[in-house]
Amino acid sequence: MMFERNSDGMIPATLIPGDGIGPEITQCVVAVLAKLDAPFDWDVQQGGLAGVAAGGDPLPEATLNSIRRTKLALKGPLTTPVGGGFRSVNVRLREEFHLYANLRPAHSLVPGGRFENIDLILVRENLEGLYVAFEHYIAVGDDPHAVAISTGMNTRDGAKRIIRFAFEHALKLGRKKVTLVHKANVLKALTGVFLETGREMAKEYEGRIECDDRIIDACAMQLVLNPWQFDVIVTTNLFGDILSDLIAGLVGGLGAAPGANIGEKAAIFEAVHGSAPDIAGKGLANPTALLLAAGLMLDHVGEVAIATKLRHIIDMVLTTDGVRTRDLGGTASTQEFTTALLARI
Ligand code: NAI
Ligand code: MG
Repeated sequence: MMFERNSDGMIPATLIPGDGIGPEITQCVVAVLAKLDAPFDWDVQQGGLAGVAAGGDPLPEATLNSIRRTKLALKGPLTTPVGGGFRSVNVRLREEFHLYANLRPAHSLVPGGRFENIDLILVRENLEGLYVAFEHYIAVGDDPHAVAISTGMNTRDGAKRIIRFAFEHALKLGRKKVTLVHKANVLKALTGVFLETGREMAKEYEGRIECDDRIIDACAMQLVLNPWQFDVIVTTNLFGDILSDLIAGLVGGLGAAPGANIGEKAAIFEAVHGSAPDIAGKGLANPTALLLAAGLMLDHVGEVAIATKLRHIIDMVLTTDGVRTRDLGGTASTQEFTTALLARI
């Protein structure tokens, strides 16, 4: 297990409220989880601008130490300071805790959108591929950038690890199918190793989980034409980056998109959106994405019944009660939306 329970059954977990709308949506999530009796014992830590103000670092050592201890974090959006040479907090966390799996589910929440009844899970490899960014230029004549070169790297072990994660996740959630997405017809080595490994591993799951594969470009088209044919998708880093935004678009954008970064040493759950400085402090923020991220965190620690209940009450409030924040076409404030959720529990 990657997390621990105290003797009273509570699970220590790091909570980073974050910047901008972070504290407002975190407040909602904490209240809803408490009323659901979710067994988290929060250790509140700073990050982002709050971290810079306190000690000059958007990812303070105390926050890292807390996650090292709890191995579990719920993170609000962090404003990346512009200039000053700050490295992306997300990249630092991924590296520090070897968060190799990026999990992005997409589930229709509000009826009447472009697509109905979408229920997809995307599993993206988070550490390898073209993101290793071994890059350089070769100068020709007086053009220093005449030739640009990038080398990607995918390893057999990395492919096994992420594909295993996808199959096990599919089993755990009672899913039917895993689709391997690749470009092995052109990038025969870089993405060929991923496809070859996946096809081999699929045999282990035969009779339990179906497996097929798609070339990335065809997959992108098919996700728009008929997204219901897919169930769990697993793919390499860059393709996963692109497809995860595509599937968020299928269900109405970032407002309801949660994400999980999972590794051997820790797991960090967050909303996909940023700190929304344009609406911060105005009581307009939609907490749904962070609530759904908390749902993934509950799944992760085996509290699936509470996670299911959480998703159900979100559905009820959005659909049956019709209480929605402005980004979803409603008029509710963050507080009114929170009150509606609490009333449904
Ligand atoms: P953003 O996602 O914060 O905002 C984009 C638009 O969506 C804005 O109009 C905003 O008001 C709206 N929006 C976002 N979340 C919302 C919510 N929960 N409810 C209602 N409306 C919402 O992206 P932007 O403006 O590009 O970035 C702002 C800051 O956030 C930047 O400093 C950026 O670096 C940071 N950021 C942090 C992320 C993280 O910590 N995971 C991810 C993305 C951006
Ligand atoms: Mg992206």
